Amino acid sequence: MPSLCVFGAQWGDEGKGKIIDHLAADVTHVVRYQGGSNAGHTVVVGAEKYVLHLVPSGVLHPGKVNVIANGVAVDPLLLLEEIDGLIARGVAVSSANLRLSARAHVILQHHRRLDALAERWRGEGRIGTTGRGIGPCYADKAARVGLRVCDLLDPARLESGLRVALAEKNALIQSVHGDTPLDLGEQLDLYGRLAERLSSFVGDTGAELRDAHRAGAAILFEAAQGVMLDVDHGTYPYVTSSNTGVDGIPAGVGFPPQWIGRAVGIAKAYCTRVGEGPFPSEEHGPRGAELREAGNEYGATTGRPRRCGWLDVVALRYALELNGATSWIMTNLDVLSGLGDVPVAVAYRREGRRFETFPAELSSLDAVEVEYEHRPGWTEDLTGIRRFEDLPRAARNYVEWVEASVRVPIETLSIGPRRDQVIHRS
Ligand code: IMP
Repeated sequence: MPSLCVFGAQWGDEGKGKIIDHLAADVTHVVRYQGGSNAGHTVVVGAEKYVLHLVPSGVLHPGKVNVIANGVAVDPLLLLEEIDGLIARGVAVSSANLRLSARAHVILQHHRRLDALAERWRGEGRIGTTGRGIGPCYADKAARVGLRVCDLLDPARLESGLRVALAEKNALIQSVHGDTPLDLGEQLDLYGRLAERLSSFVGDTGAELRDAHRAGAAILFEAAQGVMLDVDHGTYPYVTSSNTGVDGIPAGVGFPPQWIGRAVGIAKAYCTRVGEGPFPSEEHGPRGAELREAGNEYGATTGRPRRCGWLDVVALRYALELNGATSWIMTNLDVLSGLGDVPVAVAYRREGRRFETFPAELSSLDAVEVEYEHRPGWTEDLTGIRRFEDLPRAARNYVEWVEASVRVPIETLSIGPRRDQVIHRS
């Protein structure tokens, strides 16, 4: 199997965890390359449910190499908590199956603190971040004042780096935000201890992956969040701070783009979003609440209720095209059972103009009216079906109609949270 990237083609929470877990069976390596513990990938194995934030989903398959590459913003405290939690549940995690890039940037306590404080400062314009310090960590990376995993492992660099960082961040925390400063001694002690525990996992993961590729490895690049949250291509500024599609791989891994193979998008049969920002096909009425309950749409990382709405073909076509997706996987089709007719956003209208392409400026999105097409619904439970031909006719028609509208084939349907609840299409 050639290497491939699996990315979210909506606003995150498309069900990537389950699909990546499913595909991981056929690869040798699973690589996270952007984002951080803002992600929450849910995987159900038998009666056990795992929510992974930083550790790649391949960890649940014995014998796979899981890599946290340089593009990930790594919170060492949360990473070690996650590793300990997995080991406590009988999942093997060691330097043989988990690798951490020495070049990855580290999320420190002041990043988390400043994430929350900046949100307060933004007031009405708040982004609704996960509060995990993602934005401030990537900002420091771009400003060239961040600390990397390799700095954490070097006591002298850790000391000087933290001293300089806290001098500035504490001034900001105190003078601008009026909050209590962080103590350098305590922080040094904490990160010194964490570094010791993390050291066995650390290496030059880019070089390891390039070597593996040359030796014939099949690498699965596991994106977090979704393309509509991409810092360059999403609904800026209501986005996360990384490149969430295939675009994040070359820089976030140290892997040539021409080696990636193929890109597979994941999208739900409807749409959700957490946090603030434009969501043209959001359903504000009781049907939105019905979707939320039917799909159990609550954030895996923050527990926040997700905003729910209908599939948006304009946004999905954009996300698939941008990433050169050769196929995609539709998840949560089962959730639409019994919800009546199924509206789908097919175009936006503004000032008498009709668009079928996704606009760049937020102002256009705020003011758009959405044109819906209503597709016939179905009532049957889909969760036990394993062949496309056995789906109710209306469900099959829905899938085929969406596929024709986005002009990219659907290779697999997911119809429940368990590993086996998938329908492959030839
Ligand atoms: P941040 O990534 O915590 O800075 O949050 C920025 C925006 O991305 C917010 O709207 C978050 O709700 C959203 N976001 C971040 N991670 C995820 C995710 O894994 N799923 C869905 N939304 C996310």
